[in-house]
Amino acid sequence: MDILVTGGCGFIGSNFVRHVLGAHAQDRVINLDLLTYAGNPANLADVEADYPDRYELVRGDVNDREMCLPLMERAQAVAHFAAESHVDRSIDGSAQFLTTNVLGTHNLLECARLAWSGAAENSFVYVSTDEVYGALELDSTERFVETRPLAPRNPYSASKAAADHLAMAFYYTHGLPVKITRCSNTYGPYQFPEKLIPLMIANIVANQALPMYGDGLYVRDWLYVLDNCRASDAVMRSGRAGQAYNVGGDAERANLEVVRRLVELVCVRLDLDVDERLGLITHIADRPGHDRRYATDAGKLGRELGIEPVTSFENGLASTVDWYLANQDWCDQVTSGAYQDYYRQMYGSRLEEAGRDGKPEA
Ligand code: NAD
Ligand code: TYD
Repeated sequence: MDILVTGGCGFIGSNFVRHVLGAHAQDRVINLDLLTYAGNPANLADVEADYPDRYELVRGDVNDREMCLPLMERAQAVAHFAAESHVDRSIDGSAQFLTTNVLGTHNLLECARLAWSGAAENSFVYVSTDEVYGALELDSTERFVETRPLAPRNPYSASKAAADHLAMAFYYTHGLPVKITRCSNTYGPYQFPEKLIPLMIANIVANQALPMYGDGLYVRDWLYVLDNCRASDAVMRSGRAGQAYNVGGDAERANLEVVRRLVELVCVRLDLDVDERLGLITHIADRPGHDRRYATDAGKLGRELGIEPVTSFENGLASTVDWYLANQDWCDQVTSGAYQDYYRQMYGSRLEEAGRDGKPEA
């Protein structure tokens, strides 16, 4: 089939495109991506070379009706990953999150409605997030289930929840074959180093401060990106229309624990002193409205589609460290230019307040 992937030059999207083309020899992928700061065609350079007849990149905006409608007419399925995806940026300014995440999703839903005229065999996957459920307490053992009411608490997750509601509304109102994945914190190769794991790997290597928000005891459920891709693919092909599926990694970890393990993994590989690098951990002013804990019950995905995460956190983290160390050129390219401005603006004063300037101690 022909699959329209949006945001395929980003982190999860690029891994998804590679997975689909490798796993399904008959499928073709059209990748619609605006190439924002987070979109990098180099993430799919191997795919362009390996599958010249089955892969096509179209640079464009999910809000562009004239561009999206004909692409939708060519596709039988959509995997909609494109988004503004970073919580910290949504705290600094949320307008672009509404434009891309809410209006952009609405435009794609409209295009699918117009192009597919209710064909039940089509499939529209909206990639949502477990953050739409809000936050859990540290001392509870509760986990998110799909029937839980959505209660987002930051501008990013509010924009994702708005689009989640719209997607479901298009199923009920127009019969559009919408399926939703609500995935937990994902990590692995090609993740832009604004997110916790790649940021910390880069800073450990560079001997720079490791900025830990607040007490560092915030818990996330870590999902290896290939497990996310297998789940998204299964939902696209076999998920029931009108249903949401949680996708989790069954790996709840506190941020401090994640970062300490990253320090160990990097130090073993580069023959560095672990205690010295652990000393780079710097507690800085917390993220406003920081959600304490996310934990995902992905039982429905296992029961209905037989999909479970197969990558342990330990193996996934080790492979991720190996990938970043083997791809220093990629890291240097994506952290040059605008990233430096972003980093200074996001961390500069907070690190100064904490008595660190981001540079190694003398
Ligand atoms: P990312 O930021 O790495 O990539 C986003 C991609 O979307 C980029 O290639 C960017 O160029 C593209 N894009 C942005 N605006 C666009 C527009 N207007 N039109 C077309 N393309 C546009 O994001 P990611 O981490 O790969 O996340 C992918 C999806 O998964 C997002 O919808 C995100 O909300 C969701 N998600 C991510 C995580 C995670 O941990 N990374 C967890 C749960 C859900
Ligand atoms: P992040 O990777 O931004 O994902 P999300 O906000 O979607 O969960 O952050 C993961 C956790 O790590 C979150 O609790 C915030 C924390 N964090 C830090 O402590 N320091 C950092 O520099 C970053 C980027 C995140």
